[in-house]
Amino acid sequence: MQSITVNLKQRSYSIDIERGAISTFADRHSKMDQVSRWMIITQPNLVDDYGTLLLMSMKKVGLPCDLITVPCGESAKSISQIEKLYRQLLSNNCDRNTLLIALGGGVVGDVTGFVASTYMRGIKYIQFPTTLLAMIDSSIGGKTGVNLLEGKNLVGAIYQPKKVIIDPNLLDTLPKREKVSGFAEMLKYGLIRDKEFFRKISDGSLPNNLNDESLLEESIARSCKIKANIVATDEYESGLRRILNFGHTIGHAFETLTNDGVLRHGEAVAYGMLCSGYISFKKGLISKSEWNEIEGTLRKLSLPKFDIPDHDEILKTIRHDKKNYEGKLHFVLLDGIGNAITNDSLSDQDIVQSLEVL
Ligand SMILES: NC(=O)c1ccc[n+]([C@@H]2O[C@H](COP(=O)([O-])OP(=O)(O)OC[C@H]3O[C@@H](n4cnc5c(N)ncnc54)[C@H](O)[C@@H]3O)[C@@H](O)[C@H]2O)c1
Ligand SMILES: [Zn+2]
Repeated sequence: MQSITVNLKQRSYSIDIERGAISTFADRHSKMDQVSRWMIITQPNLVDDYGTLLLMSMKKVGLPCDLITVPCGESAKSISQIEKLYRQLLSNNCDRNTLLIALGGGVVGDVTGFVASTYMRGIKYIQFPTTLLAMIDSSIGGKTGVNLLEGKNLVGAIYQPKKVIIDPNLLDTLPKREKVSGFAEMLKYGLIRDKEFFRKISDGSLPNNLNDESLLEESIARSCKIKANIVATDEYESGLRRILNFGHTIGHAFETLTNDGVLRHGEAVAYGMLCSGYISFKKGLISKSEWNEIEGTLRKLSLPKFDIPDHDEILKTIRHDKKNYEGKLHFVLLDGIGNAITNDSLSDQDIVQSLEVL
């Protein structure tokens, strides 16, 4: 087992990576302090393969455990769904010593984390991610969130889990498109922080190169380490953590302005990284050959085609995001591959010009 620590003083926790962890979880955690009840939160399509397995193994070692599901898709990240979950927890006699297990992708993780942060003024939870994106990104760092009609993740909390458990075997059933989405975030870590890692995972046909089990495991661990270090330095995103938003400002606008399901989160981010890489090139921050390398890699992902939204709408959405950050747009650019910087003075024209690479 590989274990990575997210160092946050009294809120520190480990990210444990091990094949088969879903089968050994109950035995390993049967003696957790101050936990009197367990509740697995997952999605209906994950129950047969994983939910039941985890539930049965918990019961087998005598732990009081139940399972509830939330629907698939962004609709689960709603206030009404949260209220429903609070009620289900109450009717299952879940008290302050209940521990929630988020068994699923980013949607399950965000919803479970938010419920944990508020139910009975805060209870413990563990992230048990089942998508590549959740394993390397959303399960780490404690960001939880639900959506409003006005936009995504507008309500939430930063509330750290007690642990993150990663079982790479669970990726065997993950559809290819979801793998690409997670892989894009993996490329992001290389681009913002680790040039050698970027080159290593860009090699070959993407993301099929991750069918190599040891490369997959190593890449998950390396990504988790990068995220853990950034979060440990800046838990509340007042500085360094912003670089994790590379590709997200424009990518988020694409995600918001296209219909549900047209772009997965990582696909939108990959397009956003293409635009941000291009701006970095135009501003002379990266060389022509580095730009070619970035573009070549992202194009290898065979991203789905989409209708580029109206430029004014894109700018409006970006400005709306900007309001959430005290009026400043902290746009992330690359000052060379592996080194992200923030730029507070990007013009609308810079952004519009970058759309031409699409
Ligand atoms: N909190 C954070 O820091 C953070 C970071 C990035 C993204 N997010 C959020 O994460 C969400 C996206 O997460 P996601 O990409 O994991 O998508 P997701 O949670 O919607 O999962 C994608 C689909 O894959 C299915 N699935 C999950 N695991 C599977 C498996 N092992 N085998 C087969 N199918 C499986 C799910 O049921 C779902 O239908 C978004 O809501 C985004 O806002 C949060
Ligand atoms: Zn992301």
